Amino acid sequence: MEVFYTINSLRYYLDQVDKKVGFVPTMGALHEGHLSLVRYCKANNDVTVVSIFVNPTQFNDKEDLANYPRTLEKDLQMLQKEGVDVVFCPSVDEMYPEPDTRTFDLGGLDKMMEGAFRPGHFNGVVQIVTKLFEVVRPQTAYFGEKDFQQLTIIRYVVNQLQIPVQIVSCPIVREPDGLAMSSRNLLLGENERKAAPLISQVLFKAKNLKGNYSVEELKNWVINQINSNPYLKVEYFEIVDDVSLRPVSRWDEPVAKVGCIAVRAGKIRLIDNVRF
Ligand code: PAJ
Repeated sequence: MEVFYTINSLRYYLDQVDKKVGFVPTMGALHEGHLSLVRYCKANNDVTVVSIFVNPTQFNDKEDLANYPRTLEKDLQMLQKEGVDVVFCPSVDEMYPEPDTRTFDLGGLDKMMEGAFRPGHFNGVVQIVTKLFEVVRPQTAYFGEKDFQQLTIIRYVVNQLQIPVQIVSCPIVREPDGLAMSSRNLLLGENERKAAPLISQVLFKAKNLKGNYSVEELKNWVINQINSNPYLKVEYFEIVDDVSLRPVSRWDEPVAKVGCIAVRAGKIRLIDNVRF
């Protein structure tokens, strides 16, 4: 496995490679969710590139950035075991020699849900992902459905800017108790960790209850069920069209629907989603 810290050294290496390059961008603190993306990538490409970079421009909360888990040595071991070909782990100066002043028009997709609670977050995500695409120039890049809004926005930008990369989405990987895997799960206190599986349990139940309730009633039911646990507080729960991210108000609307939730568990924000 080759590990590169600079754009020049990575580019020098990739310029010699005349093969199908697949790419998995991450912020490290890797878990099975990330590794599932790596496995999809490896199965469908000749060269698998993984990036590990905690991108400061997508953190609207300084404390969140400071506390974000960093486990580089362990991450590299995990990637080596998966048979990854190339890891790119640049410094902040390497990726941002000058401040990135670009503001993207994300067609309003960045205004709701995560965007409403984390102003500037998606602009930062798009800044780093477009830079990484330019550096790695992959044919295909892999993103998890866990971050559903991020995935939708990346697809939008790739289409809008006609970036020559195919975006592949991969299903959510969960802990045995149903909690969606996340690097932030490491930061949960004991009580919050015990409470957290309720989020997916309620989402899955809601899917089955769909016939008995209106959209509005079901949304309220989900929020009340989760808020009944003293360690959890729902920030938003929306059932949206999976392309425009516009909230749906009726089950018979002819669009694919996904229920997206963000919950505060102590100081940690958890997100999850399920198809309806
Ligand atoms: P990070 O949170 O490290 O996630 C990297 C990729 O792994 C994302 O595409 C995310 O959706 C996926 N992922 C995380 N948990 C998952 C799970 N439980 N199941 C399936 N996929 C999962 O998302 C980011 O980093 C950053 O915003 C990034 C795109 C790298 C830009 O900085």
